[in-house]
Amino acid sequence: MNEAQFSTVKSSQVILKELMVPSYANFGGKVHGGVILGLMDKIAYTCAASHCKGYSVTASVDSVDFMNPVEVGDLLTLYASVNYVGTSSMEVGIKVESENFREGTVKHTNTSYFTMVALSEETRKPVKVAGLLLEDEDEIRRFVMGKLRKKLRRAHQQEIDDIGKALNMGKAIPELTGENCQVQESAYKNTTAR
Ligand SMILES: CC(C)(COP(=O)(O)OP(=O)(O)OC[C@H]1O[C@@H](n2cnc3c(N)ncnc32)[C@H](O)[C@@H]1OP(=O)(O)O)[C@@H](O)C(=O)NCCC(=O)NCCS
Repeated sequence: MNEAQFSTVKSSQVILKELMVPSYANFGGKVHGGVILGLMDKIAYTCAASHCKGYSVTASVDSVDFMNPVEVGDLLTLYASVNYVGTSSMEVGIKVESENFREGTVKHTNTSYFTMVALSEETRKPVKVAGLLLEDEDEIRRFVMGKLRKKLRRAHQQEIDDIGKALNMGKAIPELTGENCQVQESAYKNTTAR
């Protein structure tokens, strides 16, 4: 672990470029989403490792919405930056762009947030990471937004857990009317309204 108390955002920023070769294509001829997710995980790890100077794992990934398809032959560029750090967690923001040389266009593919947690290689327990030295207004804004996302992520997860625990199947099954499913009688014959 780096003993530095604070590190700049710039010191761990990473750019990754990769040509989308034909072997990356899916059955529709576009680049497989999994290829892009794999590259995102790779750059998130590189960026987090550069910040914490050690080992980390991917704890969560926030919304990956592909806004534009990526074509075979495009040059994909991924930009990664540590937006926010807590005690052991680091939120890495990743922006993905695809460049089509023939058309001379650059498209924004997606922006996602990976939460990486620094772990001790010996104990595999979370360890403290250096803080972020924020050098401009954009970096302050990203830190504030990362802090907010962490809070909302926790609240959202708690809400889903609570709903799951309180789920009343006797009430939930009738509410499936109109949904795109068919519930077999044998699947709920032992379920009674609580
Ligand atoms: C992520 C992991 C290390 C957290 O361990 P834990 O014992 O729950 O740790 P803690 O509760 O002490 O939390 C440690 C930090 O992780 C963060 N964290 C834990 N779970 C998280 C999640 N699902 N999403 C985002 N952040 C998370 C906490 O907010 C905390 O951040 P902070 O130290 O900055 O405040 C553990 O769940 C783990 O090892 N998961 C598997 C990760 C992995 O293998 N990834 C690769 C998949 S192939």
